[in-house]
Amino acid sequence: MKGIVFTEFLELVENEFGLEVVQQIIDECELDTEGVYTSVGTYSHKDMFKMVGKLSEIKGIPVPALLTVFGEYFFTTLKDKYPVFVEKPNLFSFLNSIDQYIHPEVLKLYPEAELPRFDAEIKSDNEMILNYMSSRKMSDLAIGLIKGAANHFKENVDVVKIGEEDDGQKVLLKVNKI
Ligand code: HEM
Repeated sequence: MKGIVFTEFLELVENEFGLEVVQQIIDECELDTEGVYTSVGTYSHKDMFKMVGKLSEIKGIPVPALLTVFGEYFFTTLKDKYPVFVEKPNLFSFLNSIDQYIHPEVLKLYPEAELPRFDAEIKSDNEMILNYMSSRKMSDLAIGLIKGAANHFKENVDVVKIGEEDDGQKVLLKVNKI
């Protein structure tokens, strides 16, 4: 997993909960890196789950909720860093482009990136289905990223899981305009 995911996560924790909580997470998780991440480095996604799990323990907030909030925040970082990817007319055409265009481009820039696959289908003007597939099991992060994208396109949506297989490695997401 690319370092930018870790540096942004720790920045969000610092903004929301303060530096002491960041320090506590680094001290109490047995991280591969001892908490030192550079945005261009590559690290184990297991470290991310250790840190999110620890934050959940400290703050009493469930892990899925933390991943979703982080995804929403992380989207603003991605769109500032890669503005060309969000040049789309609306949310659904943007979401349709993740698997076809965005993530393949990311992979050209960072061949070591570990990206999920998405089968996407626009069902109607108001409904879209995304089938998340990744051994990292981060569909809750995907939900947050979708919500972040919806904010960017000024669209109001509900995102729900309508099916799950292989312990979260395949998750069917329904995005509905409200
Ligand atoms: C500007 C648009 C986007 C860019 C540039 C982008 C790029 C990236 C990058 C750099 C990573 C980290 C890869 C790694 O750590 O090795 C990542 C991971 C991920 N992306 Fe995207 N992404 C974008 C939009 C989205 C959206 C809208 C979704 C949700 C549908 C999404 C879903 C995910 C997920 C869930 C991961 C975590 C890895 C996994 O689950 O296997 N991305 N993306």
